[in-house]
Amino acid sequence: MSASLSARPASFSRVTITELMIPSYANFGGKIHGGILLSMMDKVAYTAATKHSGAYCVTVSVDTVDFLQPVEVGELVSLKASVNHVGNSSMIIGIKVISENVKTGVVKHTYTCYFTMVAKGEDDKPTPVPPLLLETRTDVRRFVEAIKRKKYKSEYGAILKELKRTWDQEAISTMLQGQRCEVSLDIK
Ligand SMILES: CC(C)(COP(=O)(O)OP(=O)(O)OC[C@H]1O[C@@H](n2cnc3c(N)ncnc32)[C@H](O)[C@@H]1OP(=O)(O)O)[C@@H](O)C(=O)NCCC(=O)NCCS
Repeated sequence: MSASLSARPASFSRVTITELMIPSYANFGGKIHGGILLSMMDKVAYTAATKHSGAYCVTVSVDTVDFLQPVEVGELVSLKASVNHVGNSSMIIGIKVISENVKTGVVKHTYTCYFTMVAKGEDDKPTPVPPLLLETRTDVRRFVEAIKRKKYKSEYGAILKELKRTWDQEAISTMLQGQRCEVSLDIK
């Protein structure tokens, strides 16, 4: 943990952005553009990260954004952001997205995604951020889950790198069996 910066609780930077989905946000199918929701996620992640760090922050990575159900015009979308994990200059922001029918008050669906933001100093280089003060069991669970996700992401990256480096013909042929593709070159 950083010696010079005092820890800040997640509650210090927790933030919610709520917006009504208006017709100009719709795609050609009449549903809300995924890009509109991504832009809102980016804004709320930026706000939480900037509040926590007190520095200018940039988006580095976006994890597990799955649009499993469409959001309709006229729904009220709320994005609740919380700093889940803090590294040296990076922060993982958990964002819970809730879509509500304003007429009935029924919450249609919710999902969670994770943005990694990095704080930058005046020199445009990554700068240390305050540690996270874990005050509740939920804070601890989210921090530990983030450690696990970072670990799996790094292992996944290593697997893909190895696949590219070794070009294991047998493994590649096995993986392609039963897939909906045709190979028009000799991969041997
Ligand atoms: C992200 C960026 C600051 C990294 O700069 P760098 O000089 O490589 O710095 P580092 O390697 O020290 O990485 C800084 C932090 O980012 C983290 N990081 C870097 N790449 C990452 C990735 N793909 N996923 C998650 N975290 C990442 C590092 O783990 C490190 O975290 P830590 O300080 O908590 O340990 C730099 O690449 C950048 O400015 N990218 C553009 C970001 C931007 O403009 N985003 C807007 C959208 S276009």
